[in-house]
Amino acid sequence: MKDLVTLEEYIIRAQNKFPGATGELSQLLRDIGLAAKIISREVNKAGITNILGYEDSENVHGESQKKLDLFANEQLISALSRSNITCMVISEENEGVVRLSGEAGKYIVYMDPLDGSSNIDVSVSIGSIFSVYMRPESKKKLAEGDALQSGEKQVAAGYVLYGSSTVLAYTTGLGVRIFTLDPSIGEFILSHEDVKIPEYGNIYSADEGSYNFWDPGLKQYVKYCQEIDPDTGRPYKARYVGCMAADVHRTLLQGGIFMYPDSSKYPNGKLRLMYECNPLSFIIEQAGGLAIDGSRRIMEIQPASLHECTPIYIGSRKNVEKLREFFVEFNTANSSR
Ligand code: AHG
Ligand code: MN
Ligand code: MN
Repeated sequence: MKDLVTLEEYIIRAQNKFPGATGELSQLLRDIGLAAKIISREVNKAGITNILGYEDSENVHGESQKKLDLFANEQLISALSRSNITCMVISEENEGVVRLSGEAGKYIVYMDPLDGSSNIDVSVSIGSIFSVYMRPESKKKLAEGDALQSGEKQVAAGYVLYGSSTVLAYTTGLGVRIFTLDPSIGEFILSHEDVKIPEYGNIYSADEGSYNFWDPGLKQYVKYCQEIDPDTGRPYKARYVGCMAADVHRTLLQGGIFMYPDSSKYPNGKLRLMYECNPLSFIIEQAGGLAIDGSRRIMEIQPASLHECTPIYIGSRKNVEKLREFFVEFNTANSSR
């Protein structure tokens, strides 16, 4: 039998390579792994239990929350509360910061507990996304502003995708690993080590129904993707799951570009900088790809608020660079990007 490496073993082995490591980040990642297994089990049962349907509440963005969003939120917060390592959590499902009992804990965690909620009712992929920062060392009592750090300061990030199989990908800044859940033994097994994104891919991913709200540069770029040119693999294929974690996971493995632009409908885009764009940008950059907001690297953006949005263009290096050329050529000063 092939030598199977579980997520837990892998994390411990990785930690042992750093003699001074306290093991706290390893524990935090294992806690997230545990929550992911519980959420995965519930996601798979969702169609046959009464967990589907709307809760009578809205999240901070005014969107109706479904029960699975709340369940995932609770599971992740409770897993992170287990070991007093995390001092605060910022979740899509909570307006303010959630302070955990381990107030002296070393890490601040951002998360989108359930990404792609509109896919739940139709049995299409959904995910969880997380991003980890250090708390500022000198401070005893943290203010909300202490959580507003740029993506470059992330010490770890990852996602779980509840798809045709459940996979967990993470990085601590030393490349990207992917684990696949074997439900029969309840373990995440290492399936891809040191993942690299293809430097060029022939898949583009965007909600083209919003085409008329876009800036000229993006319209022209999408026309370029559709042109026939066998030498560059065009026309590209179009794929859009409506779950960023799933669209970025496919992009990581197959290459291409995923785009959620700013538009006249969403002036700052719709995706959240701190718990959607930064963690997935960290993963894609660690795999050799790029993630920009049109001009800047996503991870260089200095956040002004916990739940802010940003446009994002993320994927294979050559695809993102090509898109940038279209923005420079076709976007006017008024259409800022
Ligand atoms: P969430 O379910 O956490 O609100 O996130 C959904 C996000 C993202 O995952 C996806 O890429 C995007 O919303 C889809 O938006 P549109 O429906 O506007 O295409
Ligand atoms: Mn989301
Ligand atoms: Mn969500």
